[in-house]
Amino acid sequence: MSVNTRNKMETNAKVERLKALREEVLKGGGEARIAKQHNKGKLTARERVNLLLDKGTFEEIDAFVTHRSSAFGLDQQKFLGDGIITGYGKINGRPVYVFSQDFTIFGGSLSETFAEKMCKIMDLAMKNGIPVIGLNDSGGARIQEGVSSLGGYAEVFWRNSMASGVIPQISAIMGPCAGGAVYSPALTDFIYMVENTSYMFVTGPNVVKTVTHEEVTSEELGGAATHNTKSGVAHFSTPNDAVCLQEIRKLMSYIPQNCEEKVPMIPSKDPDSAKAKALEDIVPLNPNKPYDMKEVIEGIVDADSFYEVHKDYAENIIVGFARLGGRSVGIVANQPLSLAGVLGIRSSLKGARFVRFCDAFNIPLVVFEDVPGFLPGTDQEWGGIIKHGAKLLYAFCEATVPKMTVITRKAYGGAYDVMNSKHIRADYNVAWPTAEIAVMGTKGAVEIIFRREIGAADDPAAKQTELEAQYAEEFAHPYKAAARGFIDDVILPSETRDKLIKAMEVCQHKVDTVPKKKHDNLPL
Ligand code: HXC
Repeated sequence: MSVNTRNKMETNAKVERLKALREEVLKGGGEARIAKQHNKGKLTARERVNLLLDKGTFEEIDAFVTHRSSAFGLDQQKFLGDGIITGYGKINGRPVYVFSQDFTIFGGSLSETFAEKMCKIMDLAMKNGIPVIGLNDSGGARIQEGVSSLGGYAEVFWRNSMASGVIPQISAIMGPCAGGAVYSPALTDFIYMVENTSYMFVTGPNVVKTVTHEEVTSEELGGAATHNTKSGVAHFSTPNDAVCLQEIRKLMSYIPQNCEEKVPMIPSKDPDSAKAKALEDIVPLNPNKPYDMKEVIEGIVDADSFYEVHKDYAENIIVGFARLGGRSVGIVANQPLSLAGVLGIRSSLKGARFVRFCDAFNIPLVVFEDVPGFLPGTDQEWGGIIKHGAKLLYAFCEATVPKMTVITRKAYGGAYDVMNSKHIRADYNVAWPTAEIAVMGTKGAVEIIFRREIGAADDPAAKQTELEAQYAEEFAHPYKAAARGFIDDVILPSETRDKLIKAMEVCQHKVDTVPKKKHDNLPL
């Protein structure tokens, strides 16, 4: 045999070895476990990555990593990749790093090497200024590895914290996530959950039963409905894996690659003309009558561009992304349909978190305001509405992105200040003719300041009506605020879109700073 032939044969054998290893990588934890995964209505880790990313763009790294543990017979059970697929690819042509936990290998549990793979792509994402998307499906710390896996988790948590506000971090919960597996997602910017197949809890139902004697199912304790409506831990609830991944792709179109960049503009479309026309008389004259602020938003922003975040939590405030003239914006709006749009603990937290995300990632803020004030009551006071309300105030105060406010109706009391008022450095504040900018609503104000006059009148009801008319004439309109320059203009609903787009354009290179500090001390 010639040297050339022998070389060729040896090379072929090496290539075959690589091919065989690549085949093995694709098998995950084996056919039986993959079938089990499918039977639960779940996709495999690899199927998920392929659906998330633009077709054919995934480049895997660390596929040949295996764990180094030998305890409890682990040395007899090695799987290429060690239960997590990592790499990078593109979403709508823009690069992202991704990890996808493979439940078919040790239940997606985190070993030392598994953590190293996660950390490697987080480090690369930070270095290259690229978002990280994590698809989570994990039984938590790999029990056989003990403290090594706890250390691995802490390495991940540290990186999540360092990356916060530098690159967007998105989490999808696509299976049971217990223990350490929930804290990394909790440190990221947005959490998606899949209905009926995903759970998040620090301790599962069995431990709960032992410690507190409560009987609770996994779904009740930490399912998608629970975390989207009760705890507010999750921001999106999706019916299945495929929809969840499509939704993440959509979200990515509104956010930049990192804190130094802006979101690419896309060609804009005016809102549906019927929706825009409906704005003219959407605000009822009776201040106690509700209307749907989502219709206001949809009548103003680019057609079909409103993408609501945290939809099912604290419905008295609306937050979400949209586009105005093709530019990505963050919307924060009071919702008169729910609790009259009042600010409470949950709505303040929801709003503050969203405002801070937008500010960290250069996304201008647009506020639609119809707020009667803060929610009164012992529940709220004892629950700390003072400190939680202060978070929303703080978030708007510290935000240096372009900030716009449209007051559609009520802007009462402290809530007027909080909701992106001129005084806390908003850039463009306008009111519709239906706006009432005052310390409080007419009825409440008259009852307080004219209590004696009303009590002493021959006809108290008639006196009250007369005084309410006087008060309304004096305060229930936007012109007192306009006279002070606290709003920049009073505009028609039909003019709002055009004026916001122009204001956004003029503010696009805004430079604003906060004083030098180590970091802030947000009222936690
Ligand atoms: C090692 C694990 C594992 C784990 C599951 N597996 N969890 N292996 N470490 N943490 C393995 C199982 O042995 C099984 O292997 C396979 O994954 C699938 O698990 P099943 O139990 O058959 O699946 P299912 O019935 O769907 O239940 C999923 C589950 C359950 C709810 C996640 O497995 C479970 O409760 N696991 C333990 C969860 C937990 O307590 N984790 C530790 C948390 S403490 P085979 O070979 O049969 O396929 C923690 C500390 C970190 O995370 C703290 C940092 C702050």
